[in-house]
Amino acid sequence: MQGLLDREVLFFGGKGGVGKTTCAAAMALAASRAGRKVLLVSTDPAHSTSDIFERPIGADPTELLPNLWGLEIDAATESARYVREVKDRVRDLFGHAILKEAYKQIDLAASMPGAEEVALFDRMGGLIRGEDARFNLVIFDTAPTGHTLRLVKMPELMDAWIRALTRSRRAMLGVEGDDKNDPILVSLKDRFDRLQGLRARLMSGRTSAFVLVLIPERLPIEETARALTQLDETGVKVGGLVVNRVLPRETADAFLAARRAQEQIYLDEIAARFADRPRVYLPQFRRDVYGLASLGPVADALAAATGVSS
Ligand SMILES: Nc1ncnc2c1ncn2[C@@H]1O[C@H](COP(=O)(O)OP(=O)(O)OP(=O)(O)O)[C@@H](O)[C@H]1O
Ligand SMILES: [Mg+2]
Repeated sequence: MQGLLDREVLFFGGKGGVGKTTCAAAMALAASRAGRKVLLVSTDPAHSTSDIFERPIGADPTELLPNLWGLEIDAATESARYVREVKDRVRDLFGHAILKEAYKQIDLAASMPGAEEVALFDRMGGLIRGEDARFNLVIFDTAPTGHTLRLVKMPELMDAWIRALTRSRRAMLGVEGDDKNDPILVSLKDRFDRLQGLRARLMSGRTSAFVLVLIPERLPIEETARALTQLDETGVKVGGLVVNRVLPRETADAFLAARRAQEQIYLDEIAARFADRPRVYLPQFRRDVYGLASLGPVADALAAATGVSS
């Protein structure tokens, strides 16, 4: 998995509980030690980066260590922020007469299923486009796979939606192409351009990569296979797999030896099924990874495996 840190945006995904947060935090720590300016973003509603770093992390970037910031994005908060912004924009576009009705429509739209996801994605989009110049590497610790893949597909969905809105606005005005005098068309064009920029960065293997974390067990292997297929479909590049919690090879303990033999079957399956993917193996540590003292060794192991020097 050499060269992973040449990217500007990394996503850590995988099944629930396999070690996404641990690996994302460890990678962020390793990168910050190597001199990158790193923002570690949690998009999982059940945030746990603040647990690992043992300090509160807010909805705005919080400095954790030299070169390392944390951010926990909350969909409901982002949705409220988004609605406020849209209302501000609308206030500038429309007269008072219809403002009340427009606000009602916006509130209605904000309560629709999926609205929070769009708001979350909007915030992520800004970070992916590199709008915050303080950072040159953004690492996303994501929610379990399904949710994250929906987010990755979002540009495609929003693209179709903006195109449709643009078409209907043009039809309404009776114009073809851009109309720089119509604030709504201008705003749609602006959104469209930003979305294209975002899409280009998300799809470019030089800028972004997805890292799938799994453990050598049956269900995580199946989920990884499914995620790989879907990521390949969306065009987001997979940087590699982190195979986490691998038991020690040598052991005098009969129980552990039996567990290790069972695990070997899955390790062989991983090697066979994901032969063409770069893979990194992380050992099972004695204790939970919690706090900087225990995160350090994970960061070192990941750094060594991905060719990062600090
Ligand atoms: N290699 C490891 N050795 C020992 N403990 C580990 C290792 N990797 C992760 N853990 C522990 O496993 C638990 C789950 O890890 P983590 O929270 O990183 O998973 P996750 O994929 O982010 O979970 P969720 O899907 O709930 O967000 C944590 O208690 C963590 O400390
Ligand atoms: Mg997590």
